[in-house]
Amino acid sequence: MKISVSFLSCKKILEAVKQINLTDADYIHVDFVDGKFVKGRKIPFHQLKKISKLSSKRLDVHLMTNQLNRYIKKFASLNCEYITFHVEVEKNIEKYIELIHSYGIKAGLAINPDTSLEKIKPYLGMIDLVLVMSVVPGYGGQEFLPHTIEKLKNLKAYLKDSKDQVIIEVDGGIKEDTGKEVKQIPIDLVVSGSYITSSDDFQERINQLR
Ligand code: DX5
Ligand code: ZN
Repeated sequence: MKISVSFLSCKKILEAVKQINLTDADYIHVDFVDGKFVKGRKIPFHQLKKISKLSSKRLDVHLMTNQLNRYIKKFASLNCEYITFHVEVEKNIEKYIELIHSYGIKAGLAINPDTSLEKIKPYLGMIDLVLVMSVVPGYGGQEFLPHTIEKLKNLKAYLKDSKDQVIIEVDGGIKEDTGKEVKQIPIDLVVSGSYITSSDDFQERINQLR
């Protein structure tokens, strides 16, 4: 199980990123909230760019915006392993997946807690990752929504029967107990923010999750 660390709930972000660099986390999870597509903590792109340059980890970018042409292009200039956007944008999804791939970056589709998995199925042959939201997107530090477990299990079973090479990522409210639950499914990539960054010892929290 790989781990991607989110800094969305941190007050001192630059210090948190330096600490993430010292751990064996696989990626740094970069949340971009535009305040329109979802409400939440907005960190402007120019700031995220600075933060990202400080990171020794590759970026796992989570776009919460409708302005995908603009922001895929901007984030593609950074050190991205994945760029993920929401299936709820509904329009031009295939075009944006192709745009991400045109930069040699892996493409992900995110799905909100109340959106049916059916919405994502038509795109599974084109994408590299499905990001299942286990909180309503916008803020770090929320409680994991329990019905996500069923959704993750269903998606896992569906992918097992298909030939698509897609990994599953879960995002929101992952701490020791919820981390154990998703590990059992198992999930490939787990985002964890406040559980890790609220500690003095990030590596110890990452070890707990692993
Ligand atoms: C929520 C974000 C998450 C969040 C995770 O909109 O997408 O990435 O920051 O943070 P925790 O682990 O604190 O829920
Ligand atoms: Zn996220």
